[in-house]
Amino acid sequence: MTCVKEEAYAKINLTLDVLGLREDGYHDMDMVMQSVSLSDTVTLTLEERPGVRVKSLGADLPQDRSNLAVDAAYRYLEAVGCPKQGLSMTIEKRIPVCAGTAGGSSDAAAVLRGLNRLLGEKLSQEALMQLGSQVGSDVPYCVLGGTARAKGRGEVLSSLPSLPPCWIVLCKPDFPISTPQLFRRIDQYPEGKKPNTKAMLRALEHGQLPAVAKELYNVFEAVLPEPQRQEVQNIRRILSESGALGTCMSGTGPTVFGLFDRKDRAEQAADKLQEAYPEVFFTKAV
Ligand code: C5P
Repeated sequence: MTCVKEEAYAKINLTLDVLGLREDGYHDMDMVMQSVSLSDTVTLTLEERPGVRVKSLGADLPQDRSNLAVDAAYRYLEAVGCPKQGLSMTIEKRIPVCAGTAGGSSDAAAVLRGLNRLLGEKLSQEALMQLGSQVGSDVPYCVLGGTARAKGRGEVLSSLPSLPPCWIVLCKPDFPISTPQLFRRIDQYPEGKKPNTKAMLRALEHGQLPAVAKELYNVFEAVLPEPQRQEVQNIRRILSESGALGTCMSGTGPTVFGLFDRKDRAEQAADKLQEAYPEVFFTKAV
């Protein structure tokens, strides 16, 4: 086998809490993550010519190691003792870029999984996750996928019961967010409202979608700069008025999502949002 295809799923945060600044400059987190059916497709082909080459469809991605997928490939090849192995990858991009939905991290995780398949499963899932943590804080979760709690920098993971069946509408407003800046703002205002992670875990355990929807909470939303916070609230309002059981921002944003128990209402919400926003996605949990 010289070629494999991997789906790289986007993620949303059902909860996101920042526990505090660490000595290494990162923050300790406590998050409940969920993969959704919006995905990029990553195709990997082994080649004789050394080096990693990348072609992207649907977005203009960097060719060098600032692209997490490229960095992941080099790290994997070094880790398994094949640094001269050549690789070309094609990334069909559908997950929005810089959106709080882990698109780049998910592509990197797909590269780790795919290369491992191509080269004879040389590393365990645990080892792939550890390698992924060197690429980015969200990569270990993206290797695991599904419903999971992420602690530490994001690399201390435990799988959770699946999100009850529902439809999830994602909407990305068109403004950039600086992740380091949002972390700095959290450090300045550490006393804000916190998610009730225990209640979220209980809701998942009992398979109760309304309770999950009630517990959605992301501490970053309260520290967004004012015009952006209003835009996020506007999207949440449109989702709620269309019948979402709960709404929340994902990661460091700016993507906002709503959970629906009825498909027709989710479709209506997506139609309504599409009148004002170009990047709206109708998805399910995976
Ligand atoms: O690990 P990653 O490269 O995705 O992190 C990007 C930035 O986000 C870091 O440089 C840091 O500023 C911030 N970060 C953090 N604590 C985490 C994850 C990310 O402070 N747990």
